[in-house]
Amino acid sequence: MSAAGHQRGSFSSNWGFLLAAIGSAIGLGNIWRFSYMTYTNGGGAFLIPYVVALFSAGIPLLILEYGLGHREQASAPLAFAKVNRRTEWLGWWMPLFVMFGIMFYYQVVIGWCANFLIFSFNLAWGPDTQDFFLNTFLGVTKSPAELGGIRPAILIATGLMWLITWFITYQEVHRGIERACRIFMPVLVVTTLILVGWGLTLPGAGDGLSYYLKPEWGKLLDPKVWIAAYGQIFFTLSISFGIMIAYASYLPRKTDLVRNAWITSLTNCIYSFLAGFAVFAVVGYLAGVKGVPVDQVIKSGPTLAFVVFPEAISRLPFLREVFGIFFFSALVIAGLTSGVSIVEALTCSAIDKFRWPRKWVVTGLCVLGFMGSIIFTTGGGLYWLDIVDHFLNQYGLVMAGLLECLFVGYILKAGVLRKHINESTQRKMNQGWDFMIKYLTPSILLIMLVRSVTTELAKGYGGYSTASLLSVGGSWLLATLAAAVILSLYPWEPSRLRSDHVPGSDELFR
Ligand code: ALA
Repeated sequence: MSAAGHQRGSFSSNWGFLLAAIGSAIGLGNIWRFSYMTYTNGGGAFLIPYVVALFSAGIPLLILEYGLGHREQASAPLAFAKVNRRTEWLGWWMPLFVMFGIMFYYQVVIGWCANFLIFSFNLAWGPDTQDFFLNTFLGVTKSPAELGGIRPAILIATGLMWLITWFITYQEVHRGIERACRIFMPVLVVTTLILVGWGLTLPGAGDGLSYYLKPEWGKLLDPKVWIAAYGQIFFTLSISFGIMIAYASYLPRKTDLVRNAWITSLTNCIYSFLAGFAVFAVVGYLAGVKGVPVDQVIKSGPTLAFVVFPEAISRLPFLREVFGIFFFSALVIAGLTSGVSIVEALTCSAIDKFRWPRKWVVTGLCVLGFMGSIIFTTGGGLYWLDIVDHFLNQYGLVMAGLLECLFVGYILKAGVLRKHINESTQRKMNQGWDFMIKYLTPSILLIMLVRSVTTELAKGYGGYSTASLLSVGGSWLLATLAAAVILSLYPWEPSRLRSDHVPGSDELFR
């Protein structure tokens, strides 16, 4: 490695890197998505596949992404182009469908949180939080085909979130993110812990918790639950987003990548697990109040957190408004730190390849992003969110993870990457990791995908027609795939592909 390579690290320290990586991982996925995935997939029945997915795919792939970014010192497209020019398209496809898919609705959900931050000032959600969220706030229509007009409060908040994302990514991302994470991550954890503690005292909490923690073994035979768990692990750890490759490329040469991967993933998943206690305690309480079984409290999965947390906040014995403000601000920040990392992944990819000025790239992406978000701010937006989220996570992220295993495992060779990773790792990995990357993880992911496709062709998903699923979700993946292939055909400056070259180090975070 060249001397320049040693200078490339632009995180002030390993701690700074961990904060940014954990900041990218911990986001709405930990509270909003984790809770509804767990709820709609049988509670405790979901946790077992979730843990299996963490160890069989999440951690091995995070080590792979850290290792690849660090070895090649490049964003995802360049890293894969260095593996082999023919694999470059994968490096584009990941940040493309995440930016022009997941990010569209992700910003809208942060916009919901921002609205709830305002509602906290007078607990505007009132006594029936479900009715408030679905009808008063979202104005949900009867079907995805019926858009029902834009909801102005959601549109304004979403626009504001794009503006903030633009502002942070436009300039010193690194410092902005690091500072915001240092302050707001602890706030998020402390407010969540208080909600957990308080939730546990509510009558009926035990019923919710037993739904959350008691495995329903029969559900383990349902492929839907397994693919949902794998999709959630990819989403929550920001794997197949392209971002972890880029972040790792900015680490100093000497760094313990394996330890970093364990710290990132365990911190992230333990936080989700904890937040689940608050969610399910309140769900148990609501089940008692409404006189319905725990699994029938919420009408639509993605609404769960916005029904449950306001309810919990309203029932606190003290400082409810202040608490709501803190909790929703922390959620907004957690969402923004993840959102910024998504824009960053595509931004540094474009800079690496085309050498366009960062400011233009970020501005273009945020304008397009805002336009793409608009459909999710309508009365039919919740359906669109559900379909796009389902398709991009359970198919897009999982498929990209599978391809990453194959490309690195067989073309670069897992052993070659392991050797690089082991250079500065205290507890060296053995060939077991190669086995996982080459055989175990891709086989599991492939089985998941095939089972999921066959089940959904037979039974559909969420009551939507297969045609609407395929036309909305499928075309999203295909359009971004076509764009990825086109971008990868554009030639690189030859010097960029040399492994001793240090690409783009002067451009990132500027
Ligand atoms: N990993 C991010 C989240 O969980 C995207 O929200």
